[in-house]
Amino acid sequence: MVEHNTGCERCHGPGGKHAASAAKTDIFNPAKATKEQASLVCGYCHVRKENEHFKSAQGNPREDQPHPVVGETYKAGQDDWRTWYPDGILIPGANPKQPLNQNYPKTDLENAFYLDDLAKQHGFYDSRKHHEAWQELIQSSHYTKNILACSDCHMPHALAKPKPAARETCVACHGTQYDYAKIMPATGRTADNLFMRSHTFNKNQNRPSGPTASGQPTYYYK
Ligand code: HEC
Ligand code: HEC
Ligand code: HEC
Ligand code: HEC
Repeated sequence: MVEHNTGCERCHGPGGKHAASAAKTDIFNPAKATKEQASLVCGYCHVRKENEHFKSAQGNPREDQPHPVVGETYKAGQDDWRTWYPDGILIPGANPKQPLNQNYPKTDLENAFYLDDLAKQHGFYDSRKHHEAWQELIQSSHYTKNILACSDCHMPHALAKPKPAARETCVACHGTQYDYAKIMPATGRTADNLFMRSHTFNKNQNRPSGPTASGQPTYYYK
């Protein structure tokens, strides 16, 4: 929240009506949405994609996804960015024609996910690059069984009733069965040679963890 680029409306959608009325019902609250809808809000940014539909000033594919109508912006809680110009964009996992279990050579998605024996054996494709959390979460039973959205584990700002830190959420449902550091090894390499934790939630996880981007202990680092 100290970073001005991710302001309120990025997660709560247009706020003009709410600012005028101050009514709770006049604004989008991820906590009141379906898990799919709530996760789409975070996935708009925490995803890896290559956009051929709108090019950068240098003529390269973009990594972001502007609204199909020039001048409009993404409206959290209203728009489904997975359905925008599906033929002009590569978002493995979002489009059924672009599955996560295949490689996309010569694009930003080249070697973006593990496709090795462990991945094929269990059907979980952990990230090899950063900002892929949404593509990992949608593979997990947490998502497919409609159990958790990103914001059930991560609360981006203070609330009237504080929530536990993400790594302390597991125990409420699983007791001590799962150690988050083992289930979520840091596999997705960032530009700084730090790694993002996997969000596929494979119970047979045995990948080693790299040093994590968030600086938390890396018990399984080899
Ligand atoms: C990165 C996403 C994100 C941003 C940015 C964000 N919010 Fe939220 N906000 C959420 C989520 C998720 C919830 C639902 C939390 C819950 O109850 O589980 C929420 C809940 C709220 C609530 C309800 C609080 C409660 O106690 O029930 C208010 C009010 C709110 N946000 C205001 C704001 C304001 C004002 C800003 C900008 C200064 C902002 N939010 C920015 C994600 C965001
Ligand atoms: C508009 C784009 C955008 C949206 C929407 C967004 N994020 Fe983020 N998020 C960012 C950026 C940018 C950072 C900072 C990355 C950095 O520091 O390099 C960040 C950082 C984070 C971090 C902290 C990472 C760390 O290492 O401490 C978490 C956790 C997170 N976001 C979760 C969420 C969740 C949950 C939602 C949805 C409720 C969400 N984000 C929505 C862009 C976004
Ligand atoms: C709100 C309750 C809840 C929370 C919080 C939660 N989980 Fe889960 N988790 C579940 C449920 C329910 C399932 C689905 C179990 C099933 O498929 O029968 C599941 C599935 C899993 C699985 C896959 C299990 C399997 O049999 O394939 C793993 C691994 C897992 N969770 C780890 C974690 C970790 C690590 C955390 C904390 C970062 C966590 N969970 C947080 C409820 C939760
Ligand atoms: C079951 C709980 C759970 C869910 C659901 C979840 N996360 Fe996480 N996430 C965690 C935990 C635990 C960590 C590691 C935190 C730590 O090391 O202290 C983490 C770490 C992160 C980080 C920080 C970078 C890193 O690897 O440490 C980001 C960014 C992030 N998650 C984004 C997301 C987004 C976006 C979603 C939804 C697509 C999501 N998470 C869903 C539990 C969850």
